[in-house]
Amino acid sequence: MLKLHDLYFKPFISEEEIQNAVQSMVDAIVADLGDEMPVFVGILNGSFMLVSDFVKKYPKPCEVTFIKLASYEGVKSSEDIQRLIGLTQDLTGRTVVILEDIIDSGNTLEEVHRIFKNEKVKDLRIATLFYKPEAYDKDFKLHYVGKEIPNKFIVGYGLDYNGLGRDLPSVYQLKTTQHMTNIVLFGPPGAGKGTQANFLKEKYDLVHISTGDVFRYNIKNETALGMLAKSYMDKGELVPDQVTIDMLNKEVEKNTDAKGFIFDGFPRTNAQAKALDQLMDSKDSQINAMVALEVDDEVLVKRLLERGKTSGRADDADEGIIRNRIKEYYDKTAILKDYYSDQNKYFGVNGVGSIEEITVRLSAVIDKL
Ligand code: IMP
Ligand code: MG
Repeated sequence: MLKLHDLYFKPFISEEEIQNAVQSMVDAIVADLGDEMPVFVGILNGSFMLVSDFVKKYPKPCEVTFIKLASYEGVKSSEDIQRLIGLTQDLTGRTVVILEDIIDSGNTLEEVHRIFKNEKVKDLRIATLFYKPEAYDKDFKLHYVGKEIPNKFIVGYGLDYNGLGRDLPSVYQLKTTQHMTNIVLFGPPGAGKGTQANFLKEKYDLVHISTGDVFRYNIKNETALGMLAKSYMDKGELVPDQVTIDMLNKEVEKNTDAKGFIFDGFPRTNAQAKALDQLMDSKDSQINAMVALEVDDEVLVKRLLERGKTSGRADDADEGIIRNRIKEYYDKTAILKDYYSDQNKYFGVNGVGSIEEITVRLSAVIDKL
């Protein structure tokens, strides 16, 4: 997912697909022009990347120039009128191929035709990498189209949203569904995860999905997935990731208008993290952050022993068992810390202090997502 200014975009057309589309335009044009030496005219700003890749692929000699749309203050209204400027070269008798990044309404193309009407070119051809047929309301012929796309706003490969996104080598499409904040919450035993999850879900209107709870619910209610999971557990085998993911998927789908999710107890492995990414992707969303409560081992041991005195939980009473659980946590989660760090999504939060202090620290991370 990509955020530019206030909007979110999702991957839409890969670099490879773009390069293939550019190559297909090159092939069609070179086949049509034969030995005629063309002048390729790029329309700035958007076409700079296309023109660069295009001429590098073009197998024969050619000339390249650019023209640009400039705004003029309208006479009768404050509305901007777009005019093309920069055509200084004499194109009399030449074969000209316009290279456009995108043709949307066709207004720009109309300007191109207006400006070229007085040039005595031999042949004027229009090539565009992207074309939105649903938006186009002109009659000018488009000689070469790289790829037809739906009438949705895109960025990347020269195209911008308010100045940003032109530099991206692939194309992203505007996300029209609501943006969610999805957090993987981590913390060693005794870090106060449960307490903080409760505060965060209230504050940000998130749905807290604890895998342990989801398992217990499905098994207790004898759902098909619960029974399937139980069949593995009864044999002493690990429940396959796909079964867990299917259960989580059901939970996510139960909450279609959620502002986001807090995942608790999942993922635990790289494979699970990838599966979770895929699940979120299929919902047009993503995991925004892994937030881990960081608490010193000695503090954890003290807290858990304290809790053991009142809760009567056997695993909270023995210091050896406690230390082992903490060690196991770090052994298991180190991989995930790397997984999310690699995507700049890991946020460690100091988990020592009052409940309110820690909530404030967590909120500071979430507010920036
Ligand atoms: P036209 O409507 O065909 O004249 O396109 C006008 C200009 O709007 C294009 O040259 C682009 O600069 C811009 N444009 C149209 N559609 C998009 C889009 O999806 N993303 C970014 N810019 C766009
Ligand atoms: Mg353009």
